[in-house]
Amino acid sequence: MPSGKVMVGMLLVAAFFLVASPFSGTSASADNVIDLGGDWDFISANGSFKGKAQVPGDIYMDLARAEQIGDPLFGQNDIDTRWVAYTNWNYTKTFVLDAQPEKAVLEFDGLDTISTIYLNEKLVGSTKNQFVQYAFDVTKFAIKGSNNLVILFASPVLTAEAEAASFKANYSHVIWPECPPDMYQGECHGNMIRKIQASFSWDWGPAFPTVGVSRPARLIITNTAQISMLTATVNPVNDQFTVRVEANVRNAMAGTRLNVLIDPLGIIRTADASSGSAFIEVNISKLAVDLWWPNGHGTQTLYTITGQLAGVANSMKKIKVGFRSVELVQDWIDENKKEKGRHFYFKVNGVPIFLKGTNWIPVSSFPAQPSNERRYRFLLDSARKVGMNSMRVWGGGRYEEDILYDLADEYGILIWEDLMFACSLYPAHPEFLDSVRQELIYNVNRLKYHPSMLLWAGNNENELGLHDGWFSGAPRETQTDEYLRLYKTTAETVIAQLDPGRAFVMSSPSEGIKSIEEGGISSDPNSEFYGDIHFYNEYIDLWSDASYRTPRCATEYGVQSWPSGYTLAKALPEKDINYMSKAMLHRQHHPGGTENNLAMIFSHFACANGTLPENLPQVCAFANTTTFMHRFAYLSQAHQAIAYKVQTEHYRRMMGQLLPDGRGNTMCGMYWQLNDIWAAPTWASVDTNLRWKMVHYEARRFFEPLHIALYIVNDALQVTVINDFHTDQSGTIEISMLTWDSNFTPVYTWETNVTIAADQATTLQPPGKLSQPMTAPEDFVFVGRWKNKKGDQIGTNSIVIPNKIYKVNLDRMGTVRISSFKQISDVEYEIGIETSGISPLTWLSVNKEFLGSFSDNGFTMVSKSVTVTLSLTETLQLAKTDISVCNLRTCGLDSQFS
Ligand SMILES: *[C@@H]1O[C@H](CO)[C@@H](O)[C@H](O)[C@H]1NC(C)=O
Ligand SMILES: *[C@@H]1O[C@H](CO)[C@@H](O)[C@H](O)[C@H]1NC(C)=O
Ligand SMILES: *[C@@H]1O[C@H](CO)[C@@H](O)[C@H](O)[C@H]1NC(C)=O
Ligand SMILES: *[C@@H]1O[C@H](CO)[C@@H](O)[C@H](O)[C@H]1NC(C)=O
Ligand SMILES: *[C@@H]1O[C@H](CO)[C@@H](O)[C@H](O)[C@H]1NC(C)=O
Ligand SMILES: *[C@@H]1O[C@H](CO)[C@@H](O)[C@H](O)[C@H]1NC(C)=O
Ligand SMILES: *[C@@H]1O[C@H](CO)[C@@H](O)[C@H](O)[C@H]1NC(C)=O
Repeated sequence: MPSGKVMVGMLLVAAFFLVASPFSGTSASADNVIDLGGDWDFISANGSFKGKAQVPGDIYMDLARAEQIGDPLFGQNDIDTRWVAYTNWNYTKTFVLDAQPEKAVLEFDGLDTISTIYLNEKLVGSTKNQFVQYAFDVTKFAIKGSNNLVILFASPVLTAEAEAASFKANYSHVIWPECPPDMYQGECHGNMIRKIQASFSWDWGPAFPTVGVSRPARLIITNTAQISMLTATVNPVNDQFTVRVEANVRNAMAGTRLNVLIDPLGIIRTADASSGSAFIEVNISKLAVDLWWPNGHGTQTLYTITGQLAGVANSMKKIKVGFRSVELVQDWIDENKKEKGRHFYFKVNGVPIFLKGTNWIPVSSFPAQPSNERRYRFLLDSARKVGMNSMRVWGGGRYEEDILYDLADEYGILIWEDLMFACSLYPAHPEFLDSVRQELIYNVNRLKYHPSMLLWAGNNENELGLHDGWFSGAPRETQTDEYLRLYKTTAETVIAQLDPGRAFVMSSPSEGIKSIEEGGISSDPNSEFYGDIHFYNEYIDLWSDASYRTPRCATEYGVQSWPSGYTLAKALPEKDINYMSKAMLHRQHHPGGTENNLAMIFSHFACANGTLPENLPQVCAFANTTTFMHRFAYLSQAHQAIAYKVQTEHYRRMMGQLLPDGRGNTMCGMYWQLNDIWAAPTWASVDTNLRWKMVHYEARRFFEPLHIALYIVNDALQVTVINDFHTDQSGTIEISMLTWDSNFTPVYTWETNVTIAADQATTLQPPGKLSQPMTAPEDFVFVGRWKNKKGDQIGTNSIVIPNKIYKVNLDRMGTVRISSFKQISDVEYEIGIETSGISPLTWLSVNKEFLGSFSDNGFTMVSKSVTVTLSLTETLQLAKTDISVCNLRTCGLDSQFS
């Protein structure tokens, strides 16, 4: 143990005993705070609709609970309930005060969105920004006895429309887009108000322009000092970390002092807080702490910072921090050949980290519902379980709930945080910028102490949109001027002041430092030579490595798939579970999606036996049947899984590798998107019912730290081994070539002993027998395995099935069945599977509502039997008949869900 650690530790323990007393006592909520959560009442402005409301919550779920509307997510209820968003709603709450308070403050962590607040019929104030915490002094209005709080929520849709008209009248131009594409079936002018942009619809989701008290609310009745905000930054300086703890104090007075304890280090400091704010800076030796690491690279040690006001009972607040350094490396590839561009990757604690991850959309169309906690926990755990170390909180949603960042800290998931602006232009008049400034101050302070916070990005795709000319409605100079006033003058400045240690990029994607150097809008935001890219293309072969670009960092890419029949059945009447039904087409918001998915999927799979892609899609009569939908959902998930695998491996293969023109050293593969908010064709890897789609299982394979990427170029096999470990890895690679009819016996096997350098991908040269171009590629399946010195396989099989697998008669594939079923514990079942031959894309389902995942699924079996474990997150009694298995030969064809 380094001596520095012992010494610092001993000093701190001594200090702790000296002044331990200020931190004794509990942090239980004080009796001078009245929680305004729970039961409220709602009433429409004209009095026609009323009932009990829940806070936090939203009007749609309140109406549904009052049985005044049906399940908003069923059928086409998103359209049938749209009147809700055109209506003004009153939310009311009565509370009793035992005495006339000396001081009373109403505090709202979030109001959605356009509201006017009255207490005892006196106007308290109004709000316009869903992302801001509001506090109103109501000392004058609060009374002893019964108090009546009323919040009037104006229609967000009508307000946005009025804002757009008013803006146009004042500034003589339009803020693009006025409306989303027709296919979104959404609402217009969402960019004119500070509300979750996707609540007006998106290509993956319906419009539910909610209103309500969307986060906790309270009345604080005390004139003694209280900590209203406690936060911190932890930044490395040489061989130490500088911890800066910051607090805002309400009702501060002369003599108010802030005490700070950092545990378990036992560091105690105190500072004057009489001005209403205080900060404390402490330097801590790197040797004195355990570092926080991203998932897969080490542990996630957290330390607790407690703030308390000296002599004030119940004034304690706590946050958890971690010690880590993050450096965004953007060095020139070659100082003497600048045309080769710059690197763009992150070093955490001094080592390069390939970002393996995904993108997060809002947790639900009704994100204020406390029941969403189950979704946050399952989704973050699902990300961790498949080896992800990063996730982007996308700019069309919201600055997320604390629980997301708490879980990210605990699981080692680095958060790429967009500011909440997406795919649009925004106004930049003083009132709007003031509102954004408040939103940033609140959220940057709220989030900056989390060790998982990786960087801030100004918006989603707005730089790209401006560059690519998506936007009309105003001259280019006006758009540029407004863009820069919002993201550069306002956002970059606030972030530089409040969180100087964290990287800021102008947009996702951007050219990183080059976008900033070029004044905020770069000459090519989606360039492969700088920063990050987003990549979508439905007119290329997504199973082919050659289709992909070679950027520094890919923060979005993907293709749609359909959720399983179980999930569709919860959302649609049976008659509508049909590819071409009006209800199904209603849920496809992606322009061209209905046709493109058929074309893409049937360029690899046969529509049914005997119907080949040449005859598709128009003449496949099968496509109009219910059975087709189940088959197609399975095929679409398989297509998505393989597309994400090939693309992610393409990026990972370029780690540490440069092409002659300077492209390469790709260091991020963050696919679009993790989660879903309704049952529809989308890019999600976990569906809205929290069932993992096939791609989420595939992610565990394509993200494994030591990974053999097998891929086909010009009908010939290529092999690259990727090593994410920070040490060299030695072992044996075995590559086998099988045919459909060879009864699992390889027709050829190659073994080679290798050492793969740390943080590198290395391409191997297999012998001619493996790597020569195949005349009939559909005949072969390739399997790669990594074995340790003892000959034991480490990790999963890497498998390539033929790109044109429609050429393989289904009869040549194995017949698969469940051979054994055993309960291991309350939450674990072991399932044995047997097949008569190679079983491509083997798919296990639970035929009941459940929460959990299999240890593996969607795999191609190249041996007679395998065993998998089903782990449940919530206990459920299952029988063998509750589990089914199928594969490419059978899935969906017997009308069964898959
Ligand atoms: C809604 O609240 C406002 C303000 O208190 C009040 O004037 C109005 O009558 C209320 N509307 C209904 C339907 O209760
Ligand atoms: C009251 O408002 C609701 C919702 O906007 C509307 O459907 C209803 O027709 C209105 N009723 C009256 C009497 O105006
Ligand atoms: C337009 O100007 C009017 C009058 O000054 C003002 O009340 C309104 O808020 C302005 N609207 C916008 C969007 O700036
Ligand atoms: C922490 O260390 C930095 C760099 O050495 C120094 O500038 C700063 O004054 C120190 N802060 C404290 C509170 O000691
Ligand atoms: C596929 O072929 C099998 C056997 O040849 C047959 O039993 C089955 O009905 C066919 N399925 C379809 C959808 O045509
Ligand atoms: C399938 O349905 C579509 C849309 O209803 C229709 O245009 C097409 O003719 C149908 N095809 C067949 C083969 O029935
Ligand atoms: C790989 O190394 C092992 C010993 O570690 C040896 O037994 C084996 O023959 C080697 N394989 C090849 C293909 O060189």
